[in-house]
Amino acid sequence: MTTGVTTSPGAARPPMIGIVASAAGGLERLRAGLVEPALASGWRVGVTLTPTAARWLNAVGEVEAMAAVTGLPVRSESRLPGTARPHPPVDCYVLAPASANTVAKLALGIGDNQALTQVGEAVGDPRVPVVVFPRVNAAHARHPAWPGHLAALRNAGVGLVEGPKVFPLAEPAEEPERDLPWAHILDAVAAALASRT
Ligand SMILES: Cc1cc2nc3c(=O)[nH]c(=O)nc-3n(C[C@H](O)[C@H](O)[C@H](O)COP(=O)(O)O)c2cc1C
Repeated sequence: MTTGVTTSPGAARPPMIGIVASAAGGLERLRAGLVEPALASGWRVGVTLTPTAARWLNAVGEVEAMAAVTGLPVRSESRLPGTARPHPPVDCYVLAPASANTVAKLALGIGDNQALTQVGEAVGDPRVPVVVFPRVNAAHARHPAWPGHLAALRNAGVGLVEGPKVFPLAEPAEEPERDLPWAHILDAVAAALASRT
């Protein structure tokens, strides 16, 4: 059964970027840091959130604001069978910020919410590149399963935005005031789009 991810190779229209976000630090800057710059790059954008991320952003009016700037509903629930897909076909997905929880589920192929359903299908679709920014702390990264999750995603061709030069990991409760590496994430999306065959 298809879950709503298709491609539009060679389409004359600007690329459609599926921006997917989970409940992790920096989420409140998603519109200013990623959605609006992606629109300014000339791309079309559809936003999908995990249920927790939708709750966080609803509380600060950002769901409404992102729907207004993208011209598309912000998704956090599945559509009803037989109803139209709320977003156009996606050319490239970017999952940012990606919580440790969402990265782990994505690596295992779990699709228990709309955000994971969309990105998970794209991970298995060579026509749709996927970029992931894991927004985790040093403790998350020391979990014994973590290296395997990153390796699984990397082996599937996912572009991981991470590393000490991009976003050094802080210990829990020692997180400095800082923005997410939005410019690196945007660069990775541009590179992923350029790499499409
Ligand atoms: C204020 C706050 C900040 C959080 N920041 C992070 C974070 O930066 N990274 C992370 O992996 N989890 C973080 N968490 C925990 C996740 O929100 C939690 O694991 C949640 O279940 C993730 O759900 P989701 O992956 O479905 O969005 C945070 C939780 C709270 C309450």
